Amino acid sequence: MTSFRAALALRVALGVFALLVASGVVSVIALRTILYRQLDGTLVHLAEVEAQAGAATSGSEFKFHEGVLLAAREGPSVELIRYAQLWNQDGRPVVRSSNLSSDLVLPPSALVAAAAGRVATFSQSWRGRPLRSVVYPMQLVGAAHQVHLLQVAAPTEPLRQTLIRFSVLVMLLTVLGTIWAYALGRKLAAVALRPTGEITAQAESISAGTLSERITAHADAEEFTRLVTVLNLMLDRLDGAFQIQRQFTDDASHELRAPLTVLKGELDVTLKRERSTEEYRETLVRCREEVKRLSRLASDLLVLARSDSAVPLEHVADVDIRGLIHRVVSRFDSAAATRGVHLAIHAEQVTLPGDERMLEQVVSNLVDNAVRYCRSGGEVRIELADEGGAVLTVRDDGPGISPEHVPRLFVRFFRGDPARQRSDGTGLGLAIAKAGAEAHGGHLEFVGNGPGAIFRLCLPLEGPAARSTARVT
Ligand SMILES: Nc1ncnc2c1ncn2[C@@H]1O[C@H](COP(=O)(O)OP(=O)(O)OP(=O)(O)O)[C@@H](O)[C@H]1O
Ligand SMILES: [Mg+2]
Repeated sequence: MTSFRAALALRVALGVFALLVASGVVSVIALRTILYRQLDGTLVHLAEVEAQAGAATSGSEFKFHEGVLLAAREGPSVELIRYAQLWNQDGRPVVRSSNLSSDLVLPPSALVAAAAGRVATFSQSWRGRPLRSVVYPMQLVGAAHQVHLLQVAAPTEPLRQTLIRFSVLVMLLTVLGTIWAYALGRKLAAVALRPTGEITAQAESISAGTLSERITAHADAEEFTRLVTVLNLMLDRLDGAFQIQRQFTDDASHELRAPLTVLKGELDVTLKRERSTEEYRETLVRCREEVKRLSRLASDLLVLARSDSAVPLEHVADVDIRGLIHRVVSRFDSAAATRGVHLAIHAEQVTLPGDERMLEQVVSNLVDNAVRYCRSGGEVRIELADEGGAVLTVRDDGPGISPEHVPRLFVRFFRGDPARQRSDGTGLGLAIAKAGAEAHGGHLEFVGNGPGAIFRLCLPLEGPAARSTARVT
């Protein structure tokens, strides 16, 4: 794993290093140029002074001011050494300063420049010693010596030494600057990362028991608002899912316990004393009702558990939806007749792939509700249309669904009428129907009241292949 701090510090250090190297190189070049210009200026000045002083003398009588200007005395420091030589216009030596044991070099270019009345400057080597030279045409100071050229030279060793010392200093500063930049980069990275550390610590401290807490650290900082918002939204979703799960577990255990309590009560009371055969029979009938209720609840929970785990449907085959509707509705004939409810079917032919048993349960739950909540003597209308998929509409003549119940209609264990909570249904019918529709890539929705409730089930022709990852709530 790479360290962000180290990587950032390294980048800062590399940037500063490149900057220091570039500015160092520019500084050394600039200093070299300045030093050479200064030396050239000094040499030209010396040549001018010597030329003016010797303007009156002729040829070989020319005398240099050796002690003063040329510092040619015994053992002068190298910075002060100057060499001087007088040449005639053909480039032949006339006089040279006493510190010269042999002639300096006079390049032809200097002769040409001097002939044109220009001062020439150039670098040369004399007896292995690097020199900077100025050739000054004496015609510039007086006609008497216009045929002579005055050359003044100085060793460049001191200049070179200065440049080396400056370069070493620049390198040292570059190294120190780079180290400082690395340390600064690490420090800056640590400062920049501190908020994420605090956000992480807060996120870590939120556990299953404290899912209602939210991250507050740096929530106002422009750079971290998005991160904190995204994390808090994720916590919202987790909290919501967790609440639903907990509610489901609570409701499921409560629903399972109720029939078991009734069963135990029935058995305890019956066993308290001797009973007649008829009494035992009545108890057993009541117990059977509770066992039926328990077994229905268990199978409903199993269906929902399966739909939660999103396992693919096992028994998929072409299903004749119209036939399926007729089959399901016929099972409600006697219940409807008991309540004087008329069942009307208007179905087009639609065939699509699906799990027949699951689709039967979906339709059955819708028709069951419609028959159960329809007013006595009313009508339950079941319509099936082929609209590029199966569209099944179930409407009844009941009281409809009050608006405050609509948002929770498909929530597991939701039952709208508290008065009927105990005796009727478990509140899982619509949740199961919705899960079944989604398992087939379709959806189930509450359309509205007209005035009785209207539900619409849509199933795509592609069948379960179009199944989404949607989960029931
Ligand atoms: N056609 C309808 N008319 C009026 N209310 C309805 C209708 N269908 C459902 N409801 C309301 O929605 C609630 C949830 O329905 P759902 O089918 O999930 O559960 P249930 O019918 O109470 O029990 P179960 O279907 O598990 O036996 C019902 O309790 C009822 O209040
Ligand atoms: Mg129901």
